[in-house]
Amino acid sequence: MASHITKAVIPAAGLGTRFLPATKAMPKEMLPVVDKPAIQYVVEEAVNAGLHDVLMVTGRNKNALENHFDRVAELEATLEAKGDLAKLERVNESTGLADIHYVRQGDPKGLGHAVLRAEMHVGDEPFAVLLGDDLIDERDPLLDRMIEEQLKRNATIVALLEVDPSQIHLYGVATVEETDEEDVVRVTGLVEKPSRENAPSNYAIIGRYVLRPEVFEILERTEPGKGGEIQLTDALQEMAGDESIGGVYGVVFRGRRYDTGDKIDYIKAIVQLASERDDLGPELKPWLKDFVETID
Ligand code: G1P
Repeated sequence: MASHITKAVIPAAGLGTRFLPATKAMPKEMLPVVDKPAIQYVVEEAVNAGLHDVLMVTGRNKNALENHFDRVAELEATLEAKGDLAKLERVNESTGLADIHYVRQGDPKGLGHAVLRAEMHVGDEPFAVLLGDDLIDERDPLLDRMIEEQLKRNATIVALLEVDPSQIHLYGVATVEETDEEDVVRVTGLVEKPSRENAPSNYAIIGRYVLRPEVFEILERTEPGKGGEIQLTDALQEMAGDESIGGVYGVVFRGRRYDTGDKIDYIKAIVQLASERDDLGPELKPWLKDFVETID
């Protein structure tokens, strides 16, 4: 199906305080997952779903991000002179990946505020939002499925994951109804980071959205919510009740997802992805097994 969705917005202005001091002078999006910065996985995911126009909403540390997706002539020349074509190829992977644009968020007033900064660039068309803390395994495509549903229903689409009730307070949570499709639910309500007792379900929003452009006009008048921040979830709650803009649907994701925003999950993601790699797994796996034996 040909998509009319071409733009991806990636909020990347977070302070990354959970990873201090690593993130003192470097954006958290640049933390490596094995040997690639987390943000590169996210841009690759957007491109693989056909979204070649990427807008990053950055904070004060945007230089490292810009440099990563730009050419680095000196390094390229050195590798070329050495004949190290394999490394040259890896360096160039991020260079021509997408047509990347940048806008500054200014005050970090929340995810809703970051998305609103994309209004000028996006204009009047549906677009995707990808949060850098969530990595979706490329073997389990999610964004394609969401774009397909957006086209079919002309609605706003969120990605939902069933999480353990003990984790629900970390997410936007949806009230849902079944649809005629096994992996799609209708979202009738949304609440940002409820307590376990008040959570309407265990369907958590993970960081992928395909939004109708009406979200901008709603975000403009969305008051600060949870944590004093302008919450995307609050704008979506309003969209869920508005049939005239298609309502909100959730694609239920059952694939592999890594939360690189959390320290333990970040470590797990690196170990898992490295052990699955042909160049690292054969050496890492037997070591891991031995290491586990030494743990009591
Ligand atoms: C944000 C959203 C939340 C969503 C989560 C997914 O929260 O506000 O609704 O469930 O991303 O990762 P954050 O993790 O940025 O606090």
